[in-house]
Amino acid sequence: MSERTHILGIGSAVPDNVVTNDDLSRVMDTSDEWIQQRTGIRQRRHIAADCGGTDLGAIAAREALASAGVGIDQIDAIVYATLSPDIDWPASANLLAAKLGARSVPAFDVRNQCSGFLYSLASADALIRAGRARHVLVVGGEIHSTGIDLTTRGREVAVIFGDGAGAVVLGPSPDPQRGLLSTHLHAEGRYAEKLWLESASSRKKPRIEPADLDGDAPRAFPSMSGRYVFKHAVTRFPEVIQEALAANGLRVEDLDVLIPHQANLRINQFVAAALEMDEAKVVNNIDRYGNTTAASIPLALAEAMRDGRVSEGRLVCLAAFGAGFTWAAALFRW
Ligand code: ACO
Repeated sequence: MSERTHILGIGSAVPDNVVTNDDLSRVMDTSDEWIQQRTGIRQRRHIAADCGGTDLGAIAAREALASAGVGIDQIDAIVYATLSPDIDWPASANLLAAKLGARSVPAFDVRNQCSGFLYSLASADALIRAGRARHVLVVGGEIHSTGIDLTTRGREVAVIFGDGAGAVVLGPSPDPQRGLLSTHLHAEGRYAEKLWLESASSRKKPRIEPADLDGDAPRAFPSMSGRYVFKHAVTRFPEVIQEALAANGLRVEDLDVLIPHQANLRINQFVAAALEMDEAKVVNNIDRYGNTTAASIPLALAEAMRDGRVSEGRLVCLAAFGAGFTWAAALFRW
């Protein structure tokens, strides 16, 4: 059997600036009660000044490298998951690599929104299994606060998202019985319009114009069919988790910890109920950080590793659903 990939170290970073539901209700028509009831979110972090996802990502990455005991000179590839790249191009992974002082190793972005971290994990695992890399740095970084409409017009989306970053160092597992068992990736592009950011667009000249920022549904802000997304999420999450378990001859009862993407606490409660899982086995921290998209799984995993919920021998499933639509799962024997 080839060596298994495992997470050798983890790090996380969020901005200091806490934005509560009450803070939002001062700039838009919303309330703490509405937000908590629909999403479970109490607060999120927003950057206070000029700060890119790769700035947070670099802090998380340094922590991950230190906890893995791996130097940046030992990293053979860098994968950066985001829907909010610092700039349009080149890839933010390049900016991150420069900040970290990486060697001239491959660095690329994965633009798969809420599933981005798991798509990145699967890509990194493939590089390691193919012998193309020994250690890969995977970082999920997201700055939403500069791209959402913080007025009543944008409230359905704006209250959900927060800024943050999480990073892992992947490498060969010290024990062949432990590590990543399998990854499962899916996409269904016909639903792209149900959750997207349409502008700026290379299909148009100019790519963005003042009208994109005006009107009832401005194209320069994310647009989401909330209920539609919710309905698909509560179907696809259990499906892909079951798929990962079945691929390894395991069942829901075997699962010790589920770390779902933090899109909405209600979605995660639905998923636990659909799988007939004890909610205590499901890791949620959306109440404090909101939905940080590609960063949400490593942020939650970092927390669960620190407090001991994720520990040696446990069966741990990471799962995501988001824009695309895309959805994914990764199963680990820790
Ligand atoms: N504060 C107060 N009222 C609001 C807010 C708000 N922040 N946002 C919307 N409303 C209003 C609407 O205008 C609407 O009013 P109306 O009935 O007068 O038209 C009403 O509240 C809508 O209420 P509900 O339909 O009951 O809202 P729902 O229960 O569907 O919750 C929500 C909305 C939270 C967005 C939900 O649909 C959801 O979580 N969907 C999934 C979101 C998600 O998971 N996104 C994926 C992650 S993003 C990614 O992948 C990049």
